[in-house]
Amino acid sequence: MEIIRNPAAMTSWANRVTATGAAIGLVPTMGYFHEGHLSLMRAARKGADHVVVSLFVNPIQFGPNEDLAAYPRDFARDCRLAEAEGVDILFAPEAAGMYPEATKTKVVVSGLTSGLCGGSRPGHFDGVTTVVAKLFNVVKPRIAIFGQKDFQQLAVIRQMVRDLNWDIEIVGHPIVREADGLAMSSRNSYLSADQRRTALCLYRAIRHAGERVRQGVVDAELLVAEITEMIHSQGGVEIDYIALVDRDSLEPLGVLRPGTLLAMAVKVGRTRLIDNDLIC
Ligand code: PAJ
Repeated sequence: MEIIRNPAAMTSWANRVTATGAAIGLVPTMGYFHEGHLSLMRAARKGADHVVVSLFVNPIQFGPNEDLAAYPRDFARDCRLAEAEGVDILFAPEAAGMYPEATKTKVVVSGLTSGLCGGSRPGHFDGVTTVVAKLFNVVKPRIAIFGQKDFQQLAVIRQMVRDLNWDIEIVGHPIVREADGLAMSSRNSYLSADQRRTALCLYRAIRHAGERVRQGVVDAELLVAEITEMIHSQGGVEIDYIALVDRDSLEPLGVLRPGTLLAMAVKVGRTRLIDNDLIC
């Protein structure tokens, strides 16, 4: 596996590879790899001739009071894990390489970004779409793999690719969970043993919602109230949002119907966790 730090060097490599007709698969990440990231790399391996993983803790998608400085990092371990997955290139630029001067151009997707995580993290998705757009231009992938764990991010990127006529296939990969159901996340490393147990309330809420749908419940407000109650009954948890939305438009639903996504963000202590599931 080769490590490339310089965006121009990355593009030279991509130009050489694509000139032969080979397809590049890109997995954008912020590192501190877990099985979720590794499963995305395997999916890229299946769908492309060459796999590029980008590792960049993107400063412009963090708010002023968020965890940019504390974000977990372990470059040596990430290198070993990516190499073991047969990744060809680990593209790990410096912030100064990606944003040589204050960014004057942003890629902004409207509408889809206003609710859910966009509501509580203003500007977050502008940072995500801007960096992903730059990565697409630097790496020139034919396919790019994103996790459904960040369901809104995936929807926003699909929209951006359609709107900007990029000839890139966006693949959504299912959520990878721990044995007890907690969705894997680099941020789980912030949790104490107690908080780790508390964090299971998200998966319990998903199971509860599935059960209630099987029982014939269609009232979204009722189900949100039940889940809110369930989660609040735990100490040390602050709900950011619990929403039942259409999987495509991400608009809130009053009545559950096929294509309903349960999306949640909660703070366990100071750690913000997200999870979601298609419940019908
Ligand atoms: P990061 O949080 O590192 O996630 C990288 C990719 O891994 C994302 O597509 C995310 O959805 C996916 N992922 C994370 N946890 C997962 C899990 N448990 N199961 C399946 N996939 C999972 O998302 C970002 O980085 C950044 O916003 C990025 C897209 C790289 C732009 O900076």
